[in-house]
Amino acid sequence: SLEQSLRPQTLKSYIGQDQVKNNLEIFIEAALKRKETLDHVLLYGPPGLGKTTLAAVIANEMGVNMRTTSGPAIERPGDLAAILSGLEPGDVLFIDEIHRLPRAIEEVLYPAMEDFCLDIVIGKGPSARSVRLDLPPFTLVGATTRAGAISAPLRDRFGVLSRLEYYQEHHLVEIIKRTAQIFNTEIDAAGACEIARRSRGTPRIANRLLRRVRDYVQVRADGEISFSLAQESLELLQVDQLGLDHIDHKLLLGIIERFRGGPVGLDTIAASIGEESSTIEDVYEPYLLQIGFLQRTPRGRVVTDLVYHHFQLEVPNN
Ligand code: ADE
Repeated sequence: SLEQSLRPQTLKSYIGQDQVKNNLEIFIEAALKRKETLDHVLLYGPPGLGKTTLAAVIANEMGVNMRTTSGPAIERPGDLAAILSGLEPGDVLFIDEIHRLPRAIEEVLYPAMEDFCLDIVIGKGPSARSVRLDLPPFTLVGATTRAGAISAPLRDRFGVLSRLEYYQEHHLVEIIKRTAQIFNTEIDAAGACEIARRSRGTPRIANRLLRRVRDYVQVRADGEISFSLAQESLELLQVDQLGLDHIDHKLLLGIIERFRGGPVGLDTIAASIGEESSTIEDVYEPYLLQIGFLQRTPRGRVVTDLVYHHFQLEVPNN
């Protein structure tokens, strides 16, 4: 499908994340040469940077199938046992949001990762006994927005730890041009740059904005994306010069207007603007920290002078 072809299938066609890619290329080639299964891989970093895509690329490059699940989807040990015992030798098991795996499930996962076996308890009470079940060798690819949120024993069982970074603008430009080509949409260099500049370093956002700009030029112009049409439509979407959206604005202005610029606790600011704390922490805050708009202090979140400048407000003294 079109959606599927938007995702690159190979390391070579995966744009950006050069360090992660260069390392994975070696580990994959080494495993293939030795005819071994690839070591378990933990991918971490902010949402929208391509962790799921990269997991699929890894499976494709290893020439195996990928099974996908997520931390919150696995409720009981039996759920995990069913998935693991259904794997073919060498398969990739992708667990998204792995930091949300229940603790009891993690403990089933340890021997599975280390020795490719499952310890299952059969029966209850005095007649209960433990049976060891062999599994095919597999590669676990885990993804999380926060490496700090997974337990140390689980983290220690991954042989490869890869942190995905926000994309450089020129990489986002390449991704936007690639996607436009798949959409059969004409876009000039300045148009692609303008969308890239407002995509918060995130391919998922870049592709979403491209879709909306494409709609705009379809209706208001001849279907070709130029710099000024990109600007007009992004303005209409309330995506500002830095790519900050309505919720970023609510968060930053909320701290300024209700908490004198901070420090204010995460839960307090979340409640005051009606967003989930975890959404702010995992989705909105990382980019604002990255561009120096927010700081985390022991007493809470603080906005920096850059925010006052961005909104053309006077910087308070003290
Ligand atoms: N589409 C989304 N992310 C991409 C990436 N990193 N490379 C190529 N195409 C993409």
